[in-house]
Amino acid sequence: MNKAIAMIILAAGKGKRMKSQTPKVMHNICGRPMLAYVLDMARSLKPKKTIVVLGYKHEIVKKELGKGILAVRQKNLKGTADAVKQALPKLKGFKGTLLVLYGDTPLLKKESVDKLLKYHIENNLDATLLTGSLDKPKGYGRVLRDKCSSVSGIAEEKDADDFQKDIKEVNTGIICFNKASLEAALKKVRPDNRKKEYYLTDVINILYAGGKLVDGIKICDIQEAQGINSRLDLARANAAMRQRLNEKFMQNGVTIADTNLTFISYGAKIGQDTVIYPFTVIERDVKIGKRCFIGPFAHLREGTSVSDDVTLGNFVETTRTKIGAKVLAKHFSYIGDTSVGAKVNIGAGTVTANFDGRFKHSTVIKDNAMIGSDTILVAPVKIGKNSITGAGSVVIKDIPDNRKAVGVPARILKRKG
Ligand code: UD1
Ligand code: CA
Repeated sequence: MNKAIAMIILAAGKGKRMKSQTPKVMHNICGRPMLAYVLDMARSLKPKKTIVVLGYKHEIVKKELGKGILAVRQKNLKGTADAVKQALPKLKGFKGTLLVLYGDTPLLKKESVDKLLKYHIENNLDATLLTGSLDKPKGYGRVLRDKCSSVSGIAEEKDADDFQKDIKEVNTGIICFNKASLEAALKKVRPDNRKKEYYLTDVINILYAGGKLVDGIKICDIQEAQGINSRLDLARANAAMRQRLNEKFMQNGVTIADTNLTFISYGAKIGQDTVIYPFTVIERDVKIGKRCFIGPFAHLREGTSVSDDVTLGNFVETTRTKIGAKVLAKHFSYIGDTSVGAKVNIGAGTVTANFDGRFKHSTVIKDNAMIGSDTILVAPVKIGKNSITGAGSVVIKDIPDNRKAVGVPARILKRKG
């Protein structure tokens, strides 16, 4: 635990520009809320305390916090300075460095924050900004520097004059403070700006004017510090995170034919030498073994677990399903709530009819079974070991081991051959 550091994560805003009923920080990036990434990053720095400021639909957001994270509520969303103020009572007795993060900055990496903290602490500063350069800085606070190039304040987009708007150095929103200096400056923040809000960024101007030590360091990759304010930002962040996840899989020995056209969610596990073809969607926490071929156009939904040497080809959809080793399902299929044994062959067009309109039911397909093309398996139903279903059969009752069933509804034949 890093005893000298505490964190405040701001997540109270509605996110008006998202035009959504869902709180902004709960919008998903690669299958999980953006706030979850910020929390992971915060945890990885092992702070003494982490406090999340909640506001809009706080009950929903609170569920995402998990162990060891404190929550406070900002009743009126009066701005980022006001949000930080709400968290301070939880930090009574804490002396040291306070790191403020925004819940809408999910791409931020630990290494960048580590650097900022190190710089801030080594130079014994009152406040240190993480800044970045942007060709199109619209929407961000601009970093103001004095004649000696020292940080002297921040001008928010809405309040910036034309010269300030030309500044390309922006405030990423990630700021380290000496706690006592922050507390003193917060008292002086006034809502005298276009939005009539209490801006945390004003603290920088106040500290500088009071002769305190303020500085900023630039982040190498500004993409990391991208704030999500709109659906457009969300799509960009999804693309960036997707790329990051895909790269990790490739580093671990997975072939991804086209990383731009492969959609793998957070938490998925994929074994070595598996090949993922384009337009494949792999949802959260799905497990795939080694040497598999997945896609193109496969959709592996939540609760899917695939063993080694499996092929799930074109237009195969699975959900809440276990697939045994060496299974082949090469062409369009829906396999839901199913347990498939080893070496099963699933013919083109096989469908598990798992929903009766009210409840979901399970299907079991035992080892070495051969499911003929266009078979409908009306669940609950079991297909025995080595058994075969004829093309176009509709199976409504269990088939024992080593048998063959054909027709609509499927009749179980006396002999397999
Ligand atoms: C903020 C910064 C801006 C910076 C940008 C970086 C301020 C005033 N401006 O602008 O300088 O360039 O981030 O992304 O800080 N929040 C609360 N309570 C509130 C208001 C906001 O908790 O009353 C939270 C939001 O949920 C969000 C974060 O603070 O997670 C930032 O708020 P947002 O409205 O997105 O600020 P920006 O306009 O992006
Ligand atoms: Ca923002």
